[in-house]
Amino acid sequence: MVLDSKLRSSLVLPAVCAPMFLVSNPNLVREACLAGIIGAIPRANARSLDVFEGWLAGIGEARAERLASDPAARIGPVAVNLLTRLPEEELDHEIEVCRRHGVEIFISATGNPALVTQRVHAQGGKVYHDVTSFKFARKAIDAGVDGLTCIGSGGGGHSGTINHLALIPRIRRIFDGTVLMAGGISTGAAIRAAEVLGADLAYMGTRFIATQEAGVDPAYHQMLLDSTSADLSYTGGISGVPANWLVKSMERVGLDPANLPHPNGKGVNHDHLPEGVQPWKNLWSAGQGVELIDDIPSVADLVVRLRREYVEACETADMADVARLADLAQQTARVSAAEDR
Ligand SMILES: Cc1cc2nc3c(=O)[nH]c(=O)nc-3n(C[C@H](O)[C@H](O)[C@H](O)COP(=O)(O)O)c2cc1C
Repeated sequence: MVLDSKLRSSLVLPAVCAPMFLVSNPNLVREACLAGIIGAIPRANARSLDVFEGWLAGIGEARAERLASDPAARIGPVAVNLLTRLPEEELDHEIEVCRRHGVEIFISATGNPALVTQRVHAQGGKVYHDVTSFKFARKAIDAGVDGLTCIGSGGGGHSGTINHLALIPRIRRIFDGTVLMAGGISTGAAIRAAEVLGADLAYMGTRFIATQEAGVDPAYHQMLLDSTSADLSYTGGISGVPANWLVKSMERVGLDPANLPHPNGKGVNHDHLPEGVQPWKNLWSAGQGVELIDDIPSVADLVVRLRREYVEACETADMADVARLADLAQQTARVSAAEDR
């Protein structure tokens, strides 16, 4: 495990409320941080840098107030998902504004993270980069990133296709920085599973869409409650890049999920969709963790529940480990005795 001890001790749970376009808002991020996990937000969700700075300032005030009333409170940090395609000077300015408000962790999700890593490091921050394959992981490692967010199959948003059971241990073998496991995590037991596989942090999106603070249409919430993984379509036909989409949201805007129009060209675009139909805005994404979502709690209540489940999973694993180790020791002794004879 490679997690900064200062960061780990600020958390009640090794988890991140992942950045989500049009979903993450200052309320969601503030409540995630106050509940004791990392709260991440895309810079793109604010219409200007000034607005975004106001959000960061508001979250900073809430943190300070909580610490004043409870100095021992565990409060998670804010992480910012940067707009990475900016000219260098603008990128530097955005990082500087975030740094001014205490942001240390920056998330880059697309392209080669070399430039963003260099610029963030120059200002003393850390970069976690999204990867869906070993090839992209190697590229990001070469670029000097501090963390790899490994998006396995069944994740919300632009998801990968590799099973976490193979993805996480394989990445852990080649990378000694912070490893984050993303995709399909809805429970505290899954957070523990991420650690067992070799990850340091669990990166959770869909589960946090289904909270009171997420800024989404009530119909999106209802769709999460009504959907299972059978109601997801993993397709590049919506945004141009493969992602998991709620089929019911396609039907709701009059699209035929079996006959989606073809995107024009490569990369993220949606010129091919009918007027007024837009990915993220009225075409909604979710990961397979939707199977386990049947309520819309507050973030605070959700984190308490996740922590309870996580602790239970740790305790269960420990008891099972003790029994398994005793059995293993007995078998080893028997094999050794047989060899000696
Ligand atoms: C609606 C939605 C919007 C997303 N937007 C972004 C984004 O703007 N930037 C980003 O880095 N990842 C984005 N993601 C991916 C999440 O950060 C995270 O990797 C993913 O949700 C994890 O999978 P899960 O939803 O199964 O938990 C988005 C995911 C969803 C579901």
